[in-house]
Amino acid sequence: MEIMEVMNLFGDIYRNKKVLVTGHTGFKGSWLAFWLKELGAQVYGFSLAPSTTPSHFELLGLEMNSQFGDIRNYELLKGFINEVQPDIVFHLAAQSLVLESYKKPIDTYTTNVIGTLNVFESCRSTLSVKAIINVTTDKVYENLEKEIAYKESDRLGGYDIYSSSKACAELLTSSYKKSFLQSNSLLLASARAGNVIGGGDWAEERILPDLVRAASSNNQSVIRNPNAIRPWEHVLEPLSGYLYLGSKLLNEEEIFAQAWNFGPTHIQKHTVGELVSKSSELWDKISTANKSQSGEKLHEANILMLDCSMAKDKLKWHSVWNFEQTVSKTIEWYKNYYEENIVSTKIQIEQYVIDAKIQSLDWCK
Ligand SMILES: NC(=O)c1ccc[n+]([C@@H]2O[C@H](COP(=O)([O-])OP(=O)(O)OC[C@H]3O[C@@H](n4cnc5c(N)ncnc54)[C@H](O)[C@@H]3O)[C@@H](O)[C@H]2O)c1
Repeated sequence: MEIMEVMNLFGDIYRNKKVLVTGHTGFKGSWLAFWLKELGAQVYGFSLAPSTTPSHFELLGLEMNSQFGDIRNYELLKGFINEVQPDIVFHLAAQSLVLESYKKPIDTYTTNVIGTLNVFESCRSTLSVKAIINVTTDKVYENLEKEIAYKESDRLGGYDIYSSSKACAELLTSSYKKSFLQSNSLLLASARAGNVIGGGDWAEERILPDLVRAASSNNQSVIRNPNAIRPWEHVLEPLSGYLYLGSKLLNEEEIFAQAWNFGPTHIQKHTVGELVSKSSELWDKISTANKSQSGEKLHEANILMLDCSMAKDKLKWHSVWNFEQTVSKTIEWYKNYYEENIVSTKIQIEQYVIDAKIQSLDWCK
């Protein structure tokens, strides 16, 4: 398949559109900015400077208009959005780590709640903006620690500060729509992704980055919660969901301006332990130490599952890669990077699109 043909997706709606990604220097934002460039969009980014070494954003060397700034700085953010005049905004900038939220609760709330409100207000005052996708998380639901897969209508909650800040961002989204967007053509939706893995993530205290960081320096990793169940998915899965949802909003299909879960199609019960053992089968440098952690054990959810049937039924979106493929593509990316100095982002997007086309997903048209 020719590359132009591979990237003719989402009704070609992103070609020449001005698209702003907040959080473009982070893990998911950098993949999204790269994919949008491949789709022919004019991509703009607003985020803090990259905070990890290595950084996927820096490795990609993206030619895009990138502004480093804090979304809590309303005047700076508004000035940038007013100047860019984007058609659509994907809001991913966040303090995204559960354990960090125990250390920095105020930063977490001001960024994830007030920062989100600043994005909404900046967009409302910029007439070009037709759509906003507010990226939240699977952790917004009140977790009953039972084998229940949460659906969009389930009660919001959040034990830790990160989760509750994202649940607040959901409440804010709903309130903002009712308060300001009833008679406004700006469409606002939120997207709750599962636990995302993929190459190019070097965040602290996330399972995959911890494993590969240790492996790359011939060290062992200590696993915090081997029995915890998570809705693992490859980074390209929620991104295809966000992009498809964005295309619906750009087409003024108001019915899609609501909250969506984007996780694995089949409700799965894969544990952290399974993820680790699958990863070490694929890369023998990955090994773990059987020692108990020192210090206070902070609460993290034990069971978390998502029900993504609404996206499947109404949006005709479902995940493309199963658990084995998801882990395999992730480890392949890191092995290519550490052992061959190759960044496989572009080739993996192409493989994902080809596999999605084989499954005749609607967004491939
Ligand atoms: N990675 C996951 O498993 C996962 C799962 C579900 C939802 N999410 C959500 O997806 C989004 C992206 O996550 P990620 O994994 O790429 O996170 P990340 O930590 O890799 O990236 C976060 C991005 O936000 C930016 N940022 C942080 N604070 C900021 C501030 N005050 N002002 C401006 N920019 C700021 C960072 O610079 C970075 O670009 C987040 O909203 C996160 O909550 C992530």
